[in-house]
Amino acid sequence: MRHLLEIDDLTPDELGAVIERCEAAPETLGAPYAGRGVACLFEKPSARTRNSTEIAVVQLGGHPVYIVGDEVGIDKRETAEDIARTLACYHHAICARVFRHSVLERMAALDVAPVINLLSDEGHPLQAIADVLTIRAELGSVEGKVVTYVGDANNVTRSLALAVGYLGGTTRVASPSGYRFSDRDLDRLTLAGVLVESFEHAGEALEGADVVYTDTWVSMGQEAERERRLRDFEGFCVDDRLLSVAGPRAVFMHCLPAHRGEEVAASVLDGPQSRIWPQAANRLRSARGVLAWIAEQNGIA
Ligand code: CP
Ligand code: NVA
Repeated sequence: MRHLLEIDDLTPDELGAVIERCEAAPETLGAPYAGRGVACLFEKPSARTRNSTEIAVVQLGGHPVYIVGDEVGIDKRETAEDIARTLACYHHAICARVFRHSVLERMAALDVAPVINLLSDEGHPLQAIADVLTIRAELGSVEGKVVTYVGDANNVTRSLALAVGYLGGTTRVASPSGYRFSDRDLDRLTLAGVLVESFEHAGEALEGADVVYTDTWVSMGQEAERERRLRDFEGFCVDDRLLSVAGPRAVFMHCLPAHRGEEVAASVLDGPQSRIWPQAANRLRSARGVLAWIAEQNGIA
């Protein structure tokens, strides 16, 4: 059974096949989930992911069922395995946003239904697919492009680096000490054939960048570290001065939700180089393409 927990669950060719489905007109994808359910389980809040996934399921003929984490109580009310087995009695796919990536791995290991990662502490593959769709639409291709990520090397960064690297782009990551990719992360990227350049200073990383990307300094689940993180990330706000290093042709991207005046200045987020709204819109294409590809791979037709 095929699942999608992270971009490197795919080969580069398979990512290409997923992108083809994302960019296809919705009516060409048929209705593989007709008369079928798709579980959409969320342990954390969401605006883009929940809505894009639910609408994608509807466009593919299916019925999404939204489930709040507390309702099923992963490893509290019952084990992640029992929840997956239960959901698989009624649904043809389990899409889940969780705190611990290992929960997704345990659910997927059962092979009772395809599991799709809607964000975990480790990765955010559907976001990364929307991001490369946006780069392709804005700049023609990812190949040969430099994507500079400024800020916390987090779940979004890991998936982004994999997707950009698979498509022949380069990712640079500029973060303060303590917030860079770990050796384990770098090993995993290398194993996937993806090279990431790490920088101490955002300025250096931004020279010649085609895309400037940032995300929150305080991810969901890290709220208790907020004060420390805001101090540690001082100097890493993507403002007009930093964006000007990349130059006027660079585009700015952010997965959202954004915090104006923290990781990004309002003038950049809402400015002429920002592509955040086409990027958010691409979340629907990303979810639809992935669900269509997962249906094909798993014989859901
Ligand atoms: N980018 C993203 O995943 O947004 P949500 O948290 O609102 O789903
Ligand atoms: N890194 C952020 C992404 C939100 C879409 C988080 O995990 O909260």
